[in-house]
Amino acid sequence: MALRVARAHPAATGIHLFELRHPEGSELPPFTAGAHLTVRSPNGSLRKYSLCNDPAERDRYVIAVKRDPAGRGGSVDLVDHTKAGDLVEVSAPHNAFELAERAPGFILIAGGIGITPIMAMARRLNAEGRRYRLYYLTRSPETTAFRDELAGEEFHGKVVIHHDQGDPVNSFDLWPVLEKPGAAHVYCCGPRPLLEAVRDMTGHWPAAAIHFESFLDAAAAQRPEDRVFTVVLSHSGERIEVPPGVSILEAMRERGFDAPSSCESGTCGTCRTHLLAGEADHRDLVLMEHEKAGQVMICVSRALSPELVIDR
Ligand code: FES
Repeated sequence: MALRVARAHPAATGIHLFELRHPEGSELPPFTAGAHLTVRSPNGSLRKYSLCNDPAERDRYVIAVKRDPAGRGGSVDLVDHTKAGDLVEVSAPHNAFELAERAPGFILIAGGIGITPIMAMARRLNAEGRRYRLYYLTRSPETTAFRDELAGEEFHGKVVIHHDQGDPVNSFDLWPVLEKPGAAHVYCCGPRPLLEAVRDMTGHWPAAAIHFESFLDAAAAQRPEDRVFTVVLSHSGERIEVPPGVSILEAMRERGFDAPSSCESGTCGTCRTHLLAGEADHRDLVLMEHEKAGQVMICVSRALSPELVIDR
């Protein structure tokens, strides 16, 4: 869809809000809390951005974009070269971070720009009168998007905002929050170290109650030490080279093979595949330690051995 930028303005230091509407004022396809759009920036790069407005709104999509000069250029290009009145090409909303319908309560944990899907969730839970607590961890008040709104009556008593001033010594201690598993579901979105910390603190929770969202894709997950390896599809015997910066899933698709996927960032579990031989370099947040020898998430994980044989 080509949507009109109705408003574009800073929401905090380094964070810009874009409100997108249909050029003819038509209703937009519905979305649910936790959904994201894939947005094409003016230079053609495709990036995923979570919707942060209330899913009940059918006339607009709102995304918050962190201008990341250390990133791959998509966010900087979008922020610097997109203004009100422009047309922006976006995908239909997609959700790999759905709120559990039947959960009796929610623990929402957002780190920095990870607040975006969590805001849509908090708005929805407010509207439905459901119980939740939001822990929002940022560097400083200036880098905290939605600060004024979260101080409002609607969020009163439901939100803890913590600033670490960029020093890990000041990190918020989530252990008292997560120590005792309850019936609540945990939703966490933020930088990788926060996701890993929450995963480590929730190993004793039911796996189905813990939900992560990360926008790390194969290219963003690239490491300098990455090497080419071969993936062997056991059903056909096909041998496929996987170069650095390309995921197993992408390499398979290029050769005409596909597999179910959703988040493509190692957080949802949809692409879970049996590993029949070889040693995987696991980069997902889904697999438990005891599952790692026999399974692999092919959207982000790579190989430590020259070859992986997978059950596809
Ligand atoms: S598609 Fe979600 S973990 Fe791979």
